[in-house]
Amino acid sequence: MPKSRRGSIGAKATRRDLRLSQVYRVLEPGPVVLMTTQHKGEANVMAMSWHTMMEFEPPLIGCVISNRNYSFTALRVTKECVIAVPTAELISKVVGCGNTSGRDIDKFAVFHLTPSPGARVGAPLVDECYANLECRVVDARLVTRYNFFVLEVLKAWIGTPRRYPRTIHHRGMGVFMIAGGSIRLPSKMK
Ligand SMILES: Cc1cc2nc3c(=O)[nH]c(=O)nc-3n(C[C@H](O)[C@H](O)[C@H](O)COP(=O)(O)O)c2cc1C
Repeated sequence: MPKSRRGSIGAKATRRDLRLSQVYRVLEPGPVVLMTTQHKGEANVMAMSWHTMMEFEPPLIGCVISNRNYSFTALRVTKECVIAVPTAELISKVVGCGNTSGRDIDKFAVFHLTPSPGARVGAPLVDECYANLECRVVDARLVTRYNFFVLEVLKAWIGTPRRYPRTIHHRGMGVFMIAGGSIRLPSKMK
């Protein structure tokens, strides 16, 4: 194939407009996580999917937490949270935590999630989740403008899941994908 045509989109490719409000649905990363906070003696938990890895070690995670969420103030004030990674069995509880607010209910009680103390932060781990990452906010410079927090993972816990856990991935508008098959290739990426 001539170089100029490599990777080009064929004339027959059909495209339609994608509304800008829907762009997140094609890039949505995975997995949906639970973010816990502890503020004024209250533990809270919300669903979160707008996050990204930023560094290997120390692990840095960027995430967008809407300032309309009850968790926002807790995170901003305490500068601590736990990112807990659920698997498919927990999907109803995860969506429940994303559809309700800690302003109104105790989500740990309502959704039968078990909080347990971490080692480095005041926010609770979630026992039912296969991984728990204790984090502190290390950069809040983009919070006012973008609600974007940079977290450093201080301590990480992993349960005894299958090798490739069936994590939950958000496709938008109530549609979720459950992680499935894996393929091994000689990738140069760590
Ligand atoms: C699948 C899913 C993913 C979500 N991802 C985010 C997110 O990345 N950032 C965010 O601010 N809210 C996100 N939400 C919405 C919050 O979880 C929701 O507003 C929740 O009610 C906030 O709880 P709180 O008021 O107790 O903090 C998500 C909800 C769902 C169901």
